[in-house]
Amino acid sequence: MFDKSLVIPIGSDHGGYELKNYLCEKLIEDGYKIKDFGTYSAASVDYPDYIHPVARAINDGVYAYGIIMCGSGQGASMTANKYLNVRAGLCWDVAQAKLTRLHNNANIISLPGRFINFNIAMEAVKVFLNTDFEGGRHIPRIEKIPVKSNF
Ligand code: RB5
Repeated sequence: MFDKSLVIPIGSDHGGYELKNYLCEKLIEDGYKIKDFGTYSAASVDYPDYIHPVARAINDGVYAYGIIMCGSGQGASMTANKYLNVRAGLCWDVAQAKLTRLHNNANIISLPGRFINFNIAMEAVKVFLNTDFEGGRHIPRIEKIPVKSNF
């Protein structure tokens, strides 16, 4: 079970703004603690400006798990996955959310705000937060993800 005393950072651009508001409201109702990194209106913005702060904080160990979104979820996950200690999984249903925890030990869930039913997104987030990494054969695989410099 997810430790609900942990704070969960959440960030989005305008494409994920409505979904972010919905998730914040529902997660708080369910007893989760949220730190909202914006955006705070539906005005058009550049997604990296709102995803970098969440991803950097996960990368630095300030928070254990994060939630990000944009219209498609693609730009958000691309941005977050630039950080060595981040594994952001793009999830469009509950099964993807479960698998990216079980097999990839993802620490960020990326959601497509314009292409997902909000109730399904909420279920996906809860499953993501409450599923443990399977470990075992998946450990060497995730250890091979980072690109290591030759220098
Ligand atoms: C914004 O229009 C859109 O491009 C953005 O939310 C996201 O889908 C980018 O990957």
